[in-house]
This record gives sequence, structure tokens and C-alpha cells, in this order.
Amino acid sequence: MKFDASFFEQPLDRRNTECEKWDDRSIMNADGVPLWVADMDFPCAPAIVNALQSRAQHPCFGYGTQNPADEEALISFWQRRHHLTLQKGETQMLPCVITGLKTAVRAFTKEGDEVAIVTPVYGPFYESIRANGRKVRAVSLLREEKTGRYELDFSGMEQALQSGARLMMLCSPHNPVSRLWSKEELTCLCRLAEKYGVPIVCDEIHADFVYKPGEFVSILSIPEGEGRAVMLCSASKTFNVAGLQQAALACKNPAMLEKLRREMTAAGIVSGNTFARLAARQAYTACDDWLDGLIAYLDGSRALLRQWLAQYAPKARLSPIEATYLAWADLRAYGMTCQQLSEKCRARGVAFTPGTFFGDEGEGFMRINFACPRAQLLEGIQRLGRALEEE
Ligand SMILES: Cc1ncc(COP(=O)(O)O)c(C=O)c1O
Repeated sequence: MKFDASFFEQPLDRRNTECEKWDDRSIMNADGVPLWVADMDFPCAPAIVNALQSRAQHPCFGYGTQNPADEEALISFWQRRHHLTLQKGETQMLPCVITGLKTAVRAFTKEGDEVAIVTPVYGPFYESIRANGRKVRAVSLLREEKTGRYELDFSGMEQALQSGARLMMLCSPHNPVSRLWSKEELTCLCRLAEKYGVPIVCDEIHADFVYKPGEFVSILSIPEGEGRAVMLCSASKTFNVAGLQQAALACKNPAMLEKLRREMTAAGIVSGNTFARLAARQAYTACDDWLDGLIAYLDGSRALLRQWLAQYAPKARLSPIEATYLAWADLRAYGMTCQQLSEKCRARGVAFTPGTFFGDEGEGFMRINFACPRAQLLEGIQRLGRALEEE
């Protein structure tokens, strides 16, 4: 099968499938166009669908058992796609990446400790810290107003660590500002973590969505980071199987890995349901051609999005999209808060993720998910244009 534009543009009606993106009425009316939560309006790879359908033919769904092929598939995928060498035993399955964030917060810090994060960032980073009685130490990204590109604030991070933050949590590539962190930038952060003796947790769930000439670099391939970093990843984002719930962590430091595993045991976190394990194994071994086609399609959409925004919302400023299928749109020139923007968008039948979901820096911004057929994206941007035109 060819995974070209015609595959990714085939009609897919997700309404009434109990999916958050289309069926959550607190966000959007039934006739809305959802360009918000980060999953994709594309069918997943036939190799995954066929394997799940075939397993579902068997009428018994009793306890599953671990399969060494799961870890082998994960390791071979990261070697093949990202040149990262992981050894057997350096990974641990998780139900989801957020579980990994929370487990790491509990394993490496005590109640009342500060955890340094680079903001604006994916909302559950804050929740993972606060829900465990730790404190958020936000290190704001530096925005270059002319281009909308963001840079890391190394001296801000150093201050956070100097004043006692006990853990650094990163999102790489970064959601929501679509930045791909370079080897040099990651090395600087790793050196800071080394200097102040703190572990690093790096959420690499968006690693596969990188546009040329960019190259993804895992924190675990940075010599200064590999002994103090935990990497979190998942097939869920890349292969659009988030509803099945399966993720993994990787860590090359046996003592850190042991702490994480102890925390998981104490909390009763088990992972590996029958369908999720099968889907992840298929994803990591049999879907490279689907993934290559997907990235090519998204790459085309990313250019069109810029063009359509200029046409329908000319005062919007888009940050460069180096990675992810999420675009960070600065709508401050329209003079509205996120709440006002969301209300107008809802009335016009389109939904985005409000910038404030990612932190205070996001006021007046919206995150646009462009992983959908282009006709849907265009309709959503036209509706945004109409919402912004209203007095
Ligand atoms: C940066 C980041 N981490 C984690 C997640 C959620 O992952 P999971 O469903 O595996 O918890 C998302 C989903 O949007 C994300 O963008």
C-alpha cells in the first residue's frame, strides 16, 4: 500500500467513537472542527489495525504475559530511526508518558522540593509536580519577537538549580513551541544538571515528528546526560494509538532505574495490556513506510498552514515549526485573552488548545494541531479567521 496524500486524506468520521477530540462537548459543539488535543485524524497503519483485529477474533482476554519481543521492538526502532543504542534491561514499559513524569518526580524528589521546567510547556508537567506536593520552578523560554522562535534560558536554568531545584524536566522536541533542541543546547543543559547533581527527565514523545533539515537528538545520546537522564517515549503519539495506553522509559543509570521501578511497584503501576503491547510491537517493527508517508504529509501541511493563516488571520504570528504537528500561534495582536478567543472560536465552530494550558506565557496564544486532512485544516483556519474578525 502507498502512504501518500490520498491515504492521509481519506474520509474518517470519528464522531461518536468516544474520542476526546471530537466528542467532548465541553470543548466544542457537534458541528465543530477540532484542531486541539494532540492526536491525529488519520487512520493508523494497516499493520496495526490488522494485528488488533486478528487478536480480537480470539474470544478470550485473560491476563497477558510479558513478551521479550516488546523491548526488542522498542530498542530496534530507536536504533533505526534515531541512532540511539539502548541495551536490553535499560527500558521499562509504562501505561503512559504522564505516568512516567509523575513516577520520576516521586522517585527523585521529596515533598516540598522544586522541580525546574522550561515554560510554556505541556500542561501535565505542572500537574505532575503539584499533584505530588512538589513546587514548580518555571524557567521561561526566551521569545525572539521578530521570528517567534524560542531559545532556552541557560542562566535562568542555572539560577533555578543553584537555588535548590532538585530535578530538571524537559520536553524534547518542545510542545507547544515546536522547537527541536540541538545537540549543543542539550549538552549545555546536561552540563548544568551535572554541575548541580540533579537528574533530568526528558519527554521525547514527539521525537518522530521532525522536519528536514532538522535531526532529532535524544538526551540519552549526549555523553554528559546519559548517566543522569530518563527518557520517556511512546508509540502512542507517532502511530496514533494513544487510546490504547502504552509508553516506555529508558535509563542507562541502573540505580536511577531501580528507584523508578521501586516507585512503580509501590504505586501498583503495571503496564502492558494485550492490545496496547501488540499495537506498539507492530508500530515499532512494521510501520516505517506509513510513518515516512505521514511525515511527508505533515511537512506539506505545515507550509500550507502558514499560508492559510497569513490569508485568513493576517495578524497571527506563527513560531517556526521545527518539530511536532503542533503550531504555536501568537494572536495577541487581536487583543483577546485565551478565554475570549476560545469563546469566539466555539461560537464559530472550531477548537484550539488555549495557550494558557501551557502556562502564563501562553496568554493570547493558541496551539493549532495540524495533523488532519488538509480540507479540515483549511476549514478550521477559515473559521478562526471569521472568529477573529468579529467585534
Ligand atoms: C509532550 C507530551 N507528553 C506527553 C503526552 C501524553 O502522553 P501519554 O498519553 O502517553 O501520557 C503528550 C500528549 O499530548 C505530550 O504532548
